[in-house]
Amino acid sequence: MILTVSQLFLYFFIIPSFSYGAADTLSLNQSLSGDQTLVSLDGNFEMGFFKPGKSPSYYIGIWYKKIQTRSVVWVANRETPVSDIFSSNLKIIDGNLVLLNESKTEIWSTNMSSSATPGTEVVLLDDGNLVLRYGSNSSSPIWQSFDHPTHTFLPGGKLGYNKHTNTKQVLTSWRNKEDPGMGVFSLEVDASYKQYYIQWNRSRPYWKSGDWNDQTHIFSLIPEMRLNNNYNFSYVDNENESYFTYSLHTPSIISRFIIDVSGQIQQLSWSDNTDQWNLVWAQPQDLCQVYGGCGTFGVCNQHMLPACKCLPDFKPRSQSEWDLGSFSSGCVRKTVLDCSDKQKPVFRVSYVEKGSILAFPENEALPLDEPACRSSCLDYCICNAYTFISNICHHWNLENLNNTAPVLYSYGPYASYLDKIYIKVSDHHKINTKVLLAGIVSGFSGLVFLCSIAVIFYKRMKSRDRGVLSEEDIKGLDIPFFEFKRISSATENFSLANKLGQGGFGPVYKGTFPEGAEMAVKRLSSHSRQGLKEFKNEVLLIAKLQHRNLIKLLGYGLKNNEMILLYEYMPNKSLDCFIFDRTFCMRLDWALRFDIIMGITRGLLYLHQDSRLKIIHRDLKASNVLLDGDMNPKISDFGLAKIVKGRDIDSSLTRVVGTFGYMAPEYALNGLFSIKSDVFSFGVVVLEIISGKRNTGFYDNKEAFSLISYAWGLWKEKKPLDLLDPALAESCNSIEVLRCMIIGLLCVQEDPQDRPTMTGVLGMLGMDIESLPDPKEPAFVSRKRVHSSPTYVNESEINQLTITEEHGR
Ligand SMILES: *[C@@H]1O[C@H](CO)[C@@H](O)[C@H](O)[C@H]1NC(C)=O
Ligand SMILES: *[C@@H]1O[C@H](CO)[C@@H](O)[C@H](O)[C@H]1NC(C)=O
Ligand SMILES: *[C@@H]1O[C@H](CO)[C@@H](O)[C@H](O)[C@H]1NC(C)=O
Ligand SMILES: *[C@@H]1O[C@H](CO)[C@@H](O)[C@H](O)[C@H]1NC(C)=O
Ligand SMILES: *[C@@H]1O[C@H](CO)[C@@H](O)[C@H](O)[C@H]1NC(C)=O
Ligand SMILES: *[C@@H]1O[C@H](CO)[C@@H](O)[C@H](O)[C@H]1NC(C)=O
Ligand SMILES: *[C@@H]1O[C@H](CO)[C@@H](O)[C@H](O)[C@H]1NC(C)=O
Ligand SMILES: *[C@@H]1O[C@H](CO)[C@@H](O)[C@H](O)[C@H]1NC(C)=O
Repeated sequence: MILTVSQLFLYFFIIPSFSYGAADTLSLNQSLSGDQTLVSLDGNFEMGFFKPGKSPSYYIGIWYKKIQTRSVVWVANRETPVSDIFSSNLKIIDGNLVLLNESKTEIWSTNMSSSATPGTEVVLLDDGNLVLRYGSNSSSPIWQSFDHPTHTFLPGGKLGYNKHTNTKQVLTSWRNKEDPGMGVFSLEVDASYKQYYIQWNRSRPYWKSGDWNDQTHIFSLIPEMRLNNNYNFSYVDNENESYFTYSLHTPSIISRFIIDVSGQIQQLSWSDNTDQWNLVWAQPQDLCQVYGGCGTFGVCNQHMLPACKCLPDFKPRSQSEWDLGSFSSGCVRKTVLDCSDKQKPVFRVSYVEKGSILAFPENEALPLDEPACRSSCLDYCICNAYTFISNICHHWNLENLNNTAPVLYSYGPYASYLDKIYIKVSDHHKINTKVLLAGIVSGFSGLVFLCSIAVIFYKRMKSRDRGVLSEEDIKGLDIPFFEFKRISSATENFSLANKLGQGGFGPVYKGTFPEGAEMAVKRLSSHSRQGLKEFKNEVLLIAKLQHRNLIKLLGYGLKNNEMILLYEYMPNKSLDCFIFDRTFCMRLDWALRFDIIMGITRGLLYLHQDSRLKIIHRDLKASNVLLDGDMNPKISDFGLAKIVKGRDIDSSLTRVVGTFGYMAPEYALNGLFSIKSDVFSFGVVVLEIISGKRNTGFYDNKEAFSLISYAWGLWKEKKPLDLLDPALAESCNSIEVLRCMIIGLLCVQEDPQDRPTMTGVLGMLGMDIESLPDPKEPAFVSRKRVHSSPTYVNESEINQLTITEEHGR
């Protein structure tokens, strides 16, 4: 029995005993159309017409009924959508389930050689399987959706090989997030070996699961399966078919396995707490190992968000596809190459970031020296670019990815090779460069002019707003002043689209200046006088600091009482965006995380000791560690920093400022701060980097009150490596992890005297574990002590909020 939503409502509440079980079946002479749906017996799954995102097209699909976010697990008419669902019908005709479009033409069918039989019905089962069968008593189905998966492999489903029909079950990615049509990536089973492989365009494999081990029940190249013992994968082999299937040891968990539009396979599980899908594991781990994942003329760098971008002078072939997360259509030239003699093309050197991979068309290694390599590329119109690496000339020719020559430039040991590539561009581009150059020159002289204006402006400003920046202060500043109008146009009037985030004292925007320079623009709120002080503090402080692990101040601006700071732009945002995100954490392997810990150590050491001043940051946290294009960490947000002269401990402070979760106990409770309170915050950040968990994320946890107490517990129980983020299982160096964990615990010890200095930390990072001291019990291990912490902190904001209120002392 098919019910519309309103009918369902009626049956549900007026005659509840009747309808529920019936709505899972579509019988002969019934049809499904409009907003009618089938719902499985227990209400797990629902089937009907759906419309993905903003797409105008409708498809018949199956999705989770209990999950608000529409997550489709199977689609019937992937390639043949309909636009009017009320005149389209899904029904049983001649023993097959058939979809008729608006003009009653068959556009999708189960396509079995069965005949019209009374009692034939279609039922949606509770595991998400749609079954066509001869009546409810028939043992084997005529057809079932589990034999024809689309992009999702559900628990109980199968992925394998039918020995009679010689057909395979293949998972194929969607074309993009709003088009369930057959994408370019697919996963299938290798019939001769018990393993899976992912292919590009059903022809080029780029990832294999490794052999199946019947004893351990894992694939050799998916070690993550070992870490998560909730999945019971098994291999079935009988006279009819051989296939893999899996079940969940905890059936109440909602989990699915998909091939994503990015070309990765992913195991996801639903979290009721966060109302989102969490990534359990993904393969290939490195997005850039997906063949042609960024398409032709795309550059892949898995540490960037998104991982794909176009080479200079190229743009996405389809911007809408890129916006929908599908990059495989690649990039095209912004201006078509003119091969005529009138305008000979020229070459433009492009430098590619370390760790990038270019998916390039066919390359021919040619026995030519560099001038000949260049000139012969010029002569052939089809040559798009050349490289000259280790004295070998490569021409990069066709714009088609499908050929047998390797098209991926490797990374890792070869990364240093891949620094320069000469791209052919039209000659008029040269003119553009001249214009650009002229622009830069005039921009520069404009800057000089502006700066002189600024001095005048400042003098006036000073008389009106004494105390913001004194003449003395301005003299000491050797960073450029930016006119407000210029900043405003660079950020498109501080548009929401350009907003990067919210800093301690105001929003941060991305500014793109006409010369192409990108900067992060921090706008300090004009309301608080407090902000003025912090502004001055920050400008004066950072202008004097020069270290590769500290954010660089590039300029500043002023408008009435509003202060603006311009920093170098960090394309990868902040550390917390990576380590606490179940998807992005995959991109930070252990080696990178260790480098980040080293970088933060060096930056903090410079603040405490090596710069001309002795500076206490006071608000070190994961969100204040920014990451540049190469994932180098840079400490930011000096609004709360304090210069201490001579003394190590400053007790003259009147306000407790900082962020809950990172504040040392003596500071949070008594307002005493010292370089050792920064060391405490550093220890918390280190533990967060290792575990991928927030120190404050333990609200509901019964065993541990904070990450610190959790880590301490594991340390005492002698199972320290349990702290490790599962995403690091493959890449971790357990000695280094252990060393960092001990250092983290030493830094969060209760007594500031016991904590090492940053010099000490740097030394320990190179020491044997045996030589490290034993950490004592850290602060905040028991719940009792924290009563005096601010109670107004909203749980969801807990880690972002910087406390700036007066604290009575
Ligand atoms: C379906 O309709 C046909 C003709 O309209 C009728 O003969 C048959 O009995 C019907 N079957 C059922 C199950 O209602
Ligand atoms: C129905 O499908 C047929 C075959 O694909 C097509 O020719 C026809 O235009 C479709 N009807 C409508 C109204 O789209
Ligand atoms: C149904 O099967 C026939 C031959 O077996 C094939 O030609 C046809 O394309 C199939 N149709 C669908 C919708 O799969
Ligand atoms: C299905 O089987 C049950 C008992 O096993 C029987 O009572 C019922 O009549 C059967 N239904 C059909 C349609 O054969
Ligand atoms: C995929 O392969 C088919 C032929 O096998 C070819 O026609 C098509 O162009 C290829 N797709 C891409 C994106 O290269
Ligand atoms: C795993 O699944 C197989 C096949 O479904 C089953 O035989 C086996 O008992 C399951 N193992 C566990 C530990 O549940
Ligand atoms: C294989 O197929 C035949 C015919 O469909 C069926 O009778 C038999 O039970 C199947 N064997 C298994 C193990 O499913
Ligand atoms: C793409 O490559 C595969 C395998 O290398 C080949 O079978 C297929 O014919 C190629 N397609 C085109 C259009 O070149």
